[in-house]
Amino acid sequence: MELVIFGAAGDLSGRKLFPALLHLDACDLLDGDFSVLALSREQLTAEEFLQGLKPKAQRYLDSSRWSEELWHRFASRCRYLQMDFEQPPEFEKLATTLKDSGTRIFYFATPPSLFKSICTSLGSSACLNTDSRVVLEKPIGNDLASCQAVNETLDEYFTERQTYRIDHYLGKETVQNLLVLRFANRFINTQWDQSCIDHVQITVAETVGIEGRWSYYDQVGQLRDMVQNHLMQLLCLVAMEPPNSMTAEGIRDEKVKIVRALRSIDTSNVAENVVRGQYSAGFIGERNFPGYSDEPGSANDSSDTETFVAIKAHIDNWRWAGVPFYLRTGKRMPEKVTEIVICYKSLPHNIFSFGENIPNRLVIRLQPNEGIEMQMVSKLHSLKDKMGLVAQNLNLDFLGSSGMDRIPDAYERLFLDAINADQSLFVGREEVEESWRWCDALILAWEQQGMKVKSYPAGSKGPTRADLLIEKDGRSWHE
Ligand code: BG6
Repeated sequence: MELVIFGAAGDLSGRKLFPALLHLDACDLLDGDFSVLALSREQLTAEEFLQGLKPKAQRYLDSSRWSEELWHRFASRCRYLQMDFEQPPEFEKLATTLKDSGTRIFYFATPPSLFKSICTSLGSSACLNTDSRVVLEKPIGNDLASCQAVNETLDEYFTERQTYRIDHYLGKETVQNLLVLRFANRFINTQWDQSCIDHVQITVAETVGIEGRWSYYDQVGQLRDMVQNHLMQLLCLVAMEPPNSMTAEGIRDEKVKIVRALRSIDTSNVAENVVRGQYSAGFIGERNFPGYSDEPGSANDSSDTETFVAIKAHIDNWRWAGVPFYLRTGKRMPEKVTEIVICYKSLPHNIFSFGENIPNRLVIRLQPNEGIEMQMVSKLHSLKDKMGLVAQNLNLDFLGSSGMDRIPDAYERLFLDAINADQSLFVGREEVEESWRWCDALILAWEQQGMKVKSYPAGSKGPTRADLLIEKDGRSWHE
């Protein structure tokens, strides 16, 4: 089996892809004949490429795993080829470099603008064999039309079964655990609908800004960068019906039904259901950060691109009728947190005169401190208040209870699945297109309504309007 990485000298490859492959090698999960062909435009020999890769791989690999022996074993699997991905004749050179037989996995770790031309050149040269697969990084397009164009091109050369669209959130161990939590626990499974749940919150907060990607990010914004893919996937996993089995088709079919059931946000309701924000200068802890428009690479000091978005969404189906899903995601938040909070309804009548009715909450922490917290109500130990009530947490810490020393990185899982031809954690064509359809309508609506971004200082929890979005319904964000 040969893994061919386009963009092997890029940031993603050094930070995520190669360290993940090294981890798999360290765990003896790569076959003896597994090899890597690294491709980039850089004029380098294989030795120079590996010399440049080594410190990066070492930096991002768990220090306890690193050894010179491991590195030498891994390096002996790697070859390097310099080529210009935009020149179709260069692909003949690639075809003669590939191993003669066996599975070929082509990984596009390049800017999405190159996907179409790489795909066409691969298909028109002798690079593809009967057992070829293609792995793509998000974003697949910038809207529905461009996404469809990429998918059409892929479709000419690869079947859906050969196509692996990555959303790295699906590779996160805790995201997969969501499926187990829901579908392997009867008491959770039977309390998972509008009869028991009041509302759901999904928060993906990051402390980072736009990490030197201003010109890219300014064309995209937080809705396209995070909601269209990562938050949409989390929403689907929370809301979908149980598939009849864990096959890729089974899971995808159920997820796509959720995206289709999302109530459209249009000009009639966008102002009451969406908040857009952009960070200004501010402090996270002791450190001062510039505002979005003053980030390095900024070309526009009056950009209206959002770095924060909060949305109140509804899923119009039997299970979720009347249950709002509040989503929020932003850059330069006070801390990095990804969590899903299931807020249960209050009991119909409180028989305890010493305490108020406290609804249960199930908090699923995806990162950091991966785990689950069930907020229960128990008796306050006191002689004075005979039946006082207090909220207490049942806490399950995944790392602590797993006996492992680390939680595997998403890319380790996704590589392994692509190698084993398991598509269940990859995104299907219909899902990605339906998701764009919903996001496109929302973006069009805010453009037509002239909804400008609201400023929030770096280190805060977003614009105050985001609090109002939920507070006007008599609820509040879980902090
Ligand atoms: C990427 C986005 O897909 O996900 C980035 O393009 C974002 O803007 C990143 O920072 C967040 O990923 P994680 O795994 O750090 O939550």
